[in-house]
Amino acid sequence: MAQTVVGAALLGAAGTAFLASPGSPGPVSQTAPSLRGTAPGNPGSAGSAGVAGTAALASLAGVAMAAAAGRRSGATSCNAAAVKKKGAKVVHGKEIPWNLFSPKAPYQGKVVENDFHPQTLTEPTGDANWETTHVTFDHGGKVPYIEGQSIGVIAPGPDKKGEQPAKIRLYSIASSAVGDDQTSKTVSLCVKRVVELDGKFSNRAKGEDKPDKAGTAFPDNEVYRGVCSNHICDMTPGDEVLITGPTGAEMLLPEDPEANIIMLATGTGIAPMRSYLRLLFHDKAGAAADGGRKFKGIAWLFMGVPYSKSLLYDDEHQTYKKEYPDQFRYDYAVSREDKNAAGQKMYIQTKMAEYAEELWEMMQDEKTHVYMCGLKGMESGMAECFGPIAEKNGIVWTEFAKAMKKADRYHVEVY
Ligand SMILES: Cc1cc2nc3c(=O)[nH]c(=O)nc-3n(C[C@H](O)[C@H](O)[C@H](O)COP(=O)(O)OP(=O)(O)OC[C@H]3O[C@@H](n4cnc5c(N)ncnc54)[C@H](O)[C@@H]3O)c2cc1C
Ligand SMILES: NC(=O)c1ccc[n+]([C@@H]2O[C@H](COP(=O)([O-])OP(=O)(O)OC[C@H]3O[C@@H](n4cnc5c(N)ncnc54)[C@H](OP(=O)(O)O)[C@@H]3O)[C@@H](O)[C@H]2O)c1
Repeated sequence: MAQTVVGAALLGAAGTAFLASPGSPGPVSQTAPSLRGTAPGNPGSAGSAGVAGTAALASLAGVAMAAAAGRRSGATSCNAAAVKKKGAKVVHGKEIPWNLFSPKAPYQGKVVENDFHPQTLTEPTGDANWETTHVTFDHGGKVPYIEGQSIGVIAPGPDKKGEQPAKIRLYSIASSAVGDDQTSKTVSLCVKRVVELDGKFSNRAKGEDKPDKAGTAFPDNEVYRGVCSNHICDMTPGDEVLITGPTGAEMLLPEDPEANIIMLATGTGIAPMRSYLRLLFHDKAGAAADGGRKFKGIAWLFMGVPYSKSLLYDDEHQTYKKEYPDQFRYDYAVSREDKNAAGQKMYIQTKMAEYAEELWEMMQDEKTHVYMCGLKGMESGMAECFGPIAEKNGIVWTEFAKAMKKADRYHVEVY
């Protein structure tokens, strides 16, 4: 599949071909195929009805398409150009929606019925923080975004220091640009409810914790309930929500339909990956004229969760696997249930190690992008997984990863 380029130096050199410097897009013709291109759900059209940033958004469709066509096979990236106009940012020659709504002037959206998932995606595991929800907000077309971005949510509070409303919390967007309902008017999040018992902090004294929307309560403990995650997880259709953003340029997809996408997600780090997969394998926006998909590469998802009851969006992944067996690969690591042959806890990197040669080979291809989202430990996990094979090839993994980052092919959002 991949043409092999061995060595970080070479990879870096090849990688630079991916970087289209702002204002000087590469020499690809206007008709270069693109993952989004003229799709009905082009994010540029999403905000056409917007109030704030209307001017910026009106130009998004045109500019984004021209810029996308003008770019080489590369991706947008974190080392973005300066903000050109309110509500938009130029990232490697491509204009994307950017902070249309600020914490001081957020957008007031409404929670809508989820089209695809019941609010709670997981099942009780015995852990206090077992619940992860999929929640959908109506933004009326006024908060356009593209796959890989995040929005902020402002909870009423009180926050940790009593502030009301609370400070914003960022959430990776789990829906594609067109939204779950493909109207370009909704945005979905995948949010884990933070519940901590008898820890360092508490905002419920013993006896004070009441059942949440999922029915979980811990009246016998000192409880800390995360301010924003509990606000979101307890929402019901019709509730109002304050949204900021969109923001984020680290996790954007390449425009090249032949790119390969390797995804590493722990827990709710699946959110951006779901957004990509909807575009690649589900949405009309990703459909090709011949009835196939615009996406022609390989998408390989590695997902890490504690229990099989916490596997997120497994139904969707199984469907893609069934419908696109040559293009979608799906592996998961269930850390508290599975072990590898050596008896080690099954982390995402343990699972990836089973395919280390194949993944290493894929990563040599300048069309391959790695996306990592969730827990920070994954970064050292990658080093554990690929250090030995890199060494076998006379390469230091950290140098290789650095070169991939420089080439805008290694996208990391972890903490
Ligand atoms: C770019 C980005 C994307 C993200 N995407 C997602 C996502 O898709 N899904 C998701 O679920 N999360 C995501 N997060 C995390 C999210 O932003 C929140 O941090 C998370 O939901 C917890 O927020 P909370 O308000 O519920 O918890 P908080 O109330 O903020 O509590 C968080 C922690 O603070 C501790 N704490 C409490 N009081 C104090 C104190 N006085 N001093 C110090 N610490 C204290 C608590 O013990 C708790 O562990 C993302 C974060 C970032 C940066
Ligand atoms: N854009 C972003 O930056 C973004 C987006 C979404 C989420 N997040 C963050 O990502 C985190 C996800 O947490 P979660 O509670 O949703 O996840 P979770 O359900 O607890 O799942 C995390 C999984 O990763 C495993 N794990 C722990 N340490 C690891 C390591 N060093 N290497 C690899 N895997 C490891 C855990 O195993 P064990 O628990 O069994 O050890 C568990 O199986 C949260 O902190 C969230 O805020 C960030």
